[in-house]
Amino acid sequence: MGMTTLGLIGSGHIGSTLARLAVDAGYDVVLSNSRGPETLADLVDELGDHARAATPQEAAVAGDLVVVTIPLKGYRDLPVEPLRGKVVIDTLNYYPDRDGSLAELDEESTTTSELVQDHLAGASVVKAFNSIYFESLRRLPRPHGDPERSVLPIAGDDDHAKAAVVRFLDDVGYDAHDVGPLSEGWRFQRDTPAYVAPYANDDAGEFTPERSRPVGLAVLQQRLAGAQRYRDM
Ligand SMILES: NC(=O)c1ccc[n+]([C@@H]2O[C@H](COP(=O)([O-])OP(=O)(O)OC[C@H]3O[C@@H](n4cnc5c(N)ncnc54)[C@H](OP(=O)(O)O)[C@@H]3O)[C@@H](O)[C@H]2O)c1
Repeated sequence: MGMTTLGLIGSGHIGSTLARLAVDAGYDVVLSNSRGPETLADLVDELGDHARAATPQEAAVAGDLVVVTIPLKGYRDLPVEPLRGKVVIDTLNYYPDRDGSLAELDEESTTTSELVQDHLAGASVVKAFNSIYFESLRRLPRPHGDPERSVLPIAGDDDHAKAAVVRFLDDVGYDAHDVGPLSEGWRFQRDTPAYVAPYANDDAGEFTPERSRPVGLAVLQQRLAGAQRYRDM
């Protein structure tokens, strides 16, 4: 395996789920949050010898690949210098009720991942794991080639970075579908057809993540094709 250490900035629902999948896939993980490494002791214990807790700065330095998975409102806190030259997976979604209003997102003059990329100068940001509920993410991994394997959309401006993220997805049990550059990431943002529901809803449209179901490429592509900007909804 080329990349062995996954750094995580944010260790909540998605961060802790990805940490578990990565440890199970043979990675070392370095977790961090806003309150300090000591508050992650239980999670580190649970994850075992291949996990440790650190500050966001240290997790960024340690990671061969780094996941940023915090509420969007905090994106300006992400450390820039240690992420320069690195591949950064961005799981962030914009929820104005939680994050406050950001004019450029409300006007749709940019997208969430482009904001993160603008902040993280010199890093190669890839949007991934934003469109699956954490409980589905935990339940749906399958081995490479399994007919029940799910596919997740990704977007990014750097092909080498995307290739590294495709390998990571493969390692943790998912196929990837490249939707294009970061500017196309809106196609699987909050409230689009590809977002959360295909993995977590039942046929009646009820949110039933405890019965998450695999999503193949044909279904994902069909959902992506139905995406609209908020201004057209
Ligand atoms: N929940 C989902 O199923 C889901 C699915 C896809 C994408 N997402 C998106 O992924 C992101 C994370 O979601 P989540 O549900 O995992 O959130 P969460 O459970 O609330 O966890 C957020 C994590 O980020 C940390 N954090 C907050 N501000 C930080 C900062 N400035 N610096 C470092 N760490 C910080 C928190 O640490 P403290 O607790 O110490 O503050 C916590 O560990 C969000 O943007 C969300 O929209 C969520």
